[in-house]
Amino acid sequence: MSGRPAILVTGGAGYIGSHCCRALDAAGYQPVCYDNFSTGHRSFVTGALVTGDIADKATLAHTFAQHDIVAVMHFAASSLVGESVVDPQKYYLNNLAGTLALLDAMRAAGCNRLVFSSTGAVYGNADSQALPENYACAPINPYGASKWMRARAGGLSRGLWARFIRTALFQRQRRRSLGRNR
Ligand SMILES: NC(=O)c1ccc[n+]([C@@H]2O[C@H](COP(=O)([O-])OP(=O)(O)OC[C@H]3O[C@@H](n4cnc5c(N)ncnc54)[C@H](O)[C@@H]3O)[C@@H](O)[C@H]2O)c1
Repeated sequence: MSGRPAILVTGGAGYIGSHCCRALDAAGYQPVCYDNFSTGHRSFVTGALVTGDIADKATLAHTFAQHDIVAVMHFAASSLVGESVVDPQKYYLNNLAGTLALLDAMRAAGCNRLVFSSTGAVYGNADSQALPENYACAPINPYGASKWMRARAGGLSRGLWARFIRTALFQRQRRRSLGRNR
């Protein structure tokens, strides 16, 4: 325990999650990276590390008990549009069912603050350059749909304070700061 407020960052070893952990650390929080390393990298980890899957409620319960988690920032997901068309089940299992398991674990631990990383893919073929938050959602692939269904499952996150961020423009920034292309 560092004495700093601990934030559980799922997908903390991935692109966006790892930047989030760095920013949390710099802002005086204790990031607790929770990742199954399906696409993440150990060298990206900042702060405490728990290797685990968001569908694994036992490991989540242990993590909540071990660290005094005040909030969760949820980036863990499968996020390749093409792959989601070929293997939709993977996307509904990881992004929807996995997130619901995480919400259960949060409820059980009495942690009720969540930031959820959604995606611009929930808007589908939007015919506008600048998309306001309330633009109609019409996903056209399983990746976008799996994120949209989670956002619509409002009743399932009853009792949680939840914020949804729709990230679409991280590519340039992350290439610059990690010094790599992907
Ligand atoms: N990168 C972008 O431009 C972008 C755009 C829109 C939305 N998003 C969203 O932001 C989030 C992060 O995206 P990213 O680009 O950093 O992806 P990424 O693949 O680099 O990071 C995802 C991380 O989550 C981990 N992970 C995946 N499934 C997991 C599971 N079941 N349990 C534990 N860990 C798991 C992976 O190992 C990886 O470290 C995703 O939710 C994605 O949908 C990203």
